[in-house]
Amino acid sequence: MLTGKHILLIIGGGIAAFKTLDLIRRLRERGVTVTPVLTKAAEEFVTPLSVSALAGTKVYRDLFDLTDEAEMGHIQLSRVADLVVVAPATADLMAKMAQGHANDLASTLLLATDTPVLIAPAMNVRMWEHAATQRNAEVLRKDGIRFVGPESGDMACGEFGPGRMSEPMDILGAISGFFDDGPLKGRRILVTSGPTHEPIDPVRYIANRSSGAQGSAIASALSALGAEVVFVTGPADVPPPDGVEIIKVETALQMLEAVHAALPVDAGVFAAAVADWRVASASDRKLKKTKDGVPDLRFAENPDILREVSQMAQTRPSLVVGFAAETDDVVANATAKRNRKGCDWIVANDVSPATGIMGGPENAVIVIDDAGSETWPRMSKDQVAEKLANRISEHLAGL
Ligand code: CTP
Repeated sequence: MLTGKHILLIIGGGIAAFKTLDLIRRLRERGVTVTPVLTKAAEEFVTPLSVSALAGTKVYRDLFDLTDEAEMGHIQLSRVADLVVVAPATADLMAKMAQGHANDLASTLLLATDTPVLIAPAMNVRMWEHAATQRNAEVLRKDGIRFVGPESGDMACGEFGPGRMSEPMDILGAISGFFDDGPLKGRRILVTSGPTHEPIDPVRYIANRSSGAQGSAIASALSALGAEVVFVTGPADVPPPDGVEIIKVETALQMLEAVHAALPVDAGVFAAAVADWRVASASDRKLKKTKDGVPDLRFAENPDILREVSQMAQTRPSLVVGFAAETDDVVANATAKRNRKGCDWIVANDVSPATGIMGGPENAVIVIDDAGSETWPRMSKDQVAEKLANRISEHLAGL
């Protein structure tokens, strides 16, 4: 459990600092004491008041604050915690750490501490890729500093590439990983996610609108509870989470193979939007326009991975969770799907375009199990993931 742990959280000056507020909230929900330290630059992005309100404690900001020194000297402050987390770790903070500077409170604490340090870098892609930053990162790794991220993706500055700070759930996962703890410690859980791409020819494929966001969030949430997660993902829009074993696939057939290879697991969560059909005889050459008209594509049925795993005799996971994306009669259709496939739970949602759920940041789900159906309020996909991960954790604990 993270309960009772103490984290000294150093917040650097980057736009990602706003995500750190969410990290503080999540840490406190888990019973972690957070002592926040803000750099001068961080105060340009988040206010000491908001950090203090969320942390429920005072914020340390100044190396030469006489009141702070009288209460707790900076050397003592550097050693109060079980772990020091730097989020966001800017290029400047990383450089100071690598060089051993001690010219403000954050860098002084980092130099004075004898506690393990985890950093979540965040900066513009060119700054991250710059030889100086890469050199500093190497030095820090050699010094035993732990890293989470950075991720690749769209950045606030409009560029794309590595440099984005990891999501709060991923940082939380890295923190749980450090303490090697959580209610799902020792549990191995498989998560499938994303769409599949079924080739027509080498350049064309059939796909669907799944972004992979919900599956990624579930993998993160399970990992944050200490599970060993095997994440089998089709070509998704969102990056895979940190701290999980990632197996990338394209087609339903490849996904099935990867799932087989991942077994046995304690639980399987099948969040992927697997194509029901593939092109029976995908061409290995690009199809050309001809005078004879449009190509005559014939389809073959893909294996139903969820059904196959649900009906396994030897290696069936103790808990199999399927998803049902429906556009009408959600509960009736999803209940029928649960029976047809033989899974334990179905997480059903209404994906009619008007709901904005497919590809959007929120989800409204109904969880169907033996006992009936449970309607959850509309919430962010991260929150759905956390709630589901907790439900899985409680279920496995009760077996
Ligand atoms: N699924 C799977 N393999 C497939 C198709 C679906 O593992 N080939 C899984 C999905 O990951 C999801 C669940 O089955 O957990 C529901 O998939 P869905 O496509 O909605 O169900 P279908 O059986 O295709 O039903 P329908 O097309 O009638 O909605």
